[in-house]
Amino acid sequence: MQSKEYIQWTKNHHQSQGHDPIYSNFSREIIEQVKKFHQSHLAYTKTPLYSLQQLAKKLNVEQIYAKDESQRFGLNAFKVLGGVYAIAKYIADTLAIPFENITFEDLKSEEVKNRLGQLTFITATDGNHGRGVAWAARELGHQSIVYMPKGSSQQRLEAIRAEGADAHILPLNYDDCVRECAKLAETNGYIVIQDTAWDGYEDIPLWIMQGYATIGLEIVEELPTPPTHIFLQAGVGSFAAAITAFFYELYPENPPKIIIAEADQADCYYQSFLTRDASIQFVTGDMATIMAGLACGEPNKDAYRILRNKAFATFSCDDVISALGMRIYGNPCSGDPAIVSGESGAVTLGLLYYLQKFQLEIAKVLELNERSCVLLISTEGDTDLEQYEKVTWLGHFPKL
Ligand SMILES: Cc1ncc(COP(=O)(O)O)c(C=O)c1O
Repeated sequence: MQSKEYIQWTKNHHQSQGHDPIYSNFSREIIEQVKKFHQSHLAYTKTPLYSLQQLAKKLNVEQIYAKDESQRFGLNAFKVLGGVYAIAKYIADTLAIPFENITFEDLKSEEVKNRLGQLTFITATDGNHGRGVAWAARELGHQSIVYMPKGSSQQRLEAIRAEGADAHILPLNYDDCVRECAKLAETNGYIVIQDTAWDGYEDIPLWIMQGYATIGLEIVEELPTPPTHIFLQAGVGSFAAAITAFFYELYPENPPKIIIAEADQADCYYQSFLTRDASIQFVTGDMATIMAGLACGEPNKDAYRILRNKAFATFSCDDVISALGMRIYGNPCSGDPAIVSGESGAVTLGLLYYLQKFQLEIAKVLELNERSCVLLISTEGDTDLEQYEKVTWLGHFPKL
């Protein structure tokens, strides 16, 4: 019926209990300030956190929560949280304005415009991050340039152009698009707003990660006790590391088990965790997967530091696992809400179901049982409608 080939996994043997100063960037106090800035935009609403009780019963766990990020700022994905905070922080720092009580409107003011002039922000993206950066730049009266890797969806490109960006698909993979942006920025004086860090480029990616942590804060404001397990999808790992660091800072005594899910064509965390010395491994080439948001072969070095220390296990997943998750979200057990979840959003639910249904030995190692409270974050909605339809209506990737 099914076989193990849909996932490969490893426990993380490189975990460390020590405190790394990087976690302090995700203290509740700091993230409250980040959230306050997000809240200052009129379009801000907290995204829903659903309880999938019937599915939890079916899968023999106590509780499954799913946060639906398709409803974030009307942009169908969580990513804008990072881009907009990073741009705001960049502007505030450039003008030496204290950030504590700054609002969206302050940054749009004539005074700020006169002092700054018009800026151009540049970024590489699979779609969601670029749309967020384009939205933030336009909202704040600046310009943006966005490059996407080859094979990117036309719908995602058009969505970015609709936010006013000069956006193009390049004949390069994601990681090479990032390098191209950095090069252009240097020659033309653009500001790179990239969701991954490398030596010498650390502040903006950190701000982006802090922006993502608003999701964690919204969750703990609703959940009385921390989940026992959090399943997090990883591309460069910034999102997963931000949520991980936030929960570890908040619950140092009883942190949740962090389970990472990657696309098997871009499984740089899995490959890195397999090494003896946890050295970062790059995946290169086209990285053909339906999980476009996870098609990144080079980890964010700072996110890697966090996840190497704190992730419990990492899974390299076939597209079949993501398709499975998309169908389960969209066709829930009677009594549970339906969630429209795209390819990168749904892989974690697909993985949870697959483990509890077909891979109980692995689930046992993860200590998934009737006392487990599992948190999932559906990070995007149907950002590629054509692909969404193929998977959920036409039944592509059915091989279970
Ligand atoms: C929908 C979605 N989920 C998850 C991710 C993974 O985020 P990161 O690259 O920070 O690991 C992305 C990245 O673009 C994404 O678009």
